[in-house]
Amino acid sequence: MNQSVLHPAGPLAERILGLWDLMYWVCVAVFVLVVLALLAAVLRRRPKIEDEEDLPGPPESYRRLVTVIGAATAVTVVLLFVLLTASVATGRATASLPGDPLVLEVTGKQWWWQVEYEHSIPSEAITTANEIHIPVGRPVKIELLSTDVIHSFWVPALHGKRDLIPGRPNVTWIQADRPGVYRGQCAEFCGFQHAHMALLVIAEPPERFRSWAEAQRQSSVPPRTPLQARGKQLVERLPCANCHTIRGTQASGKLGPDLTHVASRRTLAAGTMPNTRGHLGGWILDPQSVKPGNLMPPTAMSSEEMHAVLAYLEILE
Ligand code: CUA
Repeated sequence: MNQSVLHPAGPLAERILGLWDLMYWVCVAVFVLVVLALLAAVLRRRPKIEDEEDLPGPPESYRRLVTVIGAATAVTVVLLFVLLTASVATGRATASLPGDPLVLEVTGKQWWWQVEYEHSIPSEAITTANEIHIPVGRPVKIELLSTDVIHSFWVPALHGKRDLIPGRPNVTWIQADRPGVYRGQCAEFCGFQHAHMALLVIAEPPERFRSWAEAQRQSSVPPRTPLQARGKQLVERLPCANCHTIRGTQASGKLGPDLTHVASRRTLAAGTMPNTRGHLGGWILDPQSVKPGNLMPPTAMSSEEMHAVLAYLEILE
């Protein structure tokens, strides 16, 4: 999983890496020159006392000093201006992308990401969490919202950071030019579990993206065995349904992530752990010991009930 500014996977991150390279090499050159000047000053032989008559008079040494300081100041001003211009140009060039974009909406919440793919026909819209699928080579426009505090959307291999501010919608763009899984991370301190607010961007060839989207639009998979049916019944009856939606069932809560296709996702709790049976069971029983401070309360149930709930959730591909 790639979470590095130095390994860009799209045009925006490449442009930012160009600026990074320029700043890096300018700073290296300045550092080397300063160290050399310092060494020259330290190693320069001091004139002996008897040579004092040979020393240049005060006006001459003063003129030389003024020349050196003037030249160093001029070079510094020029370099800073070059960096400023490059920075402004990069900011403009990465403000948006040409072409027909895929539009989606990402809402930051303490501490997870709600991801919605809008559609003019409401039943064609997709709601998921912590995982953004995008087609390779197509620009993606992301509208950023927050419902609680300020978060920051950052997928280093695809673009720079952009804040999600309550009451002030923001926009960012990403594009991946090669398939891959690109890890992102909330980049603005947003409370106790800020560090556990990760997301994945999964860039796929367009036909694979289309089949993923098609599967996500479907209603939830109906239970096929008595155990799964019992699990569904429990999920609808237990507190789960107050906060989570599973389309096609009575669970229609809006507070937590949509679970209609929870089994298709790779991680749980915004990248906190892999989406496996064991982790899912532990998470349901005692989410506060896994990610203290999050909004999900513990759910007490017997091992037989847990078995059924897991059997059901696991089929929600
Ligand atoms: Cu959300 Cu830090």
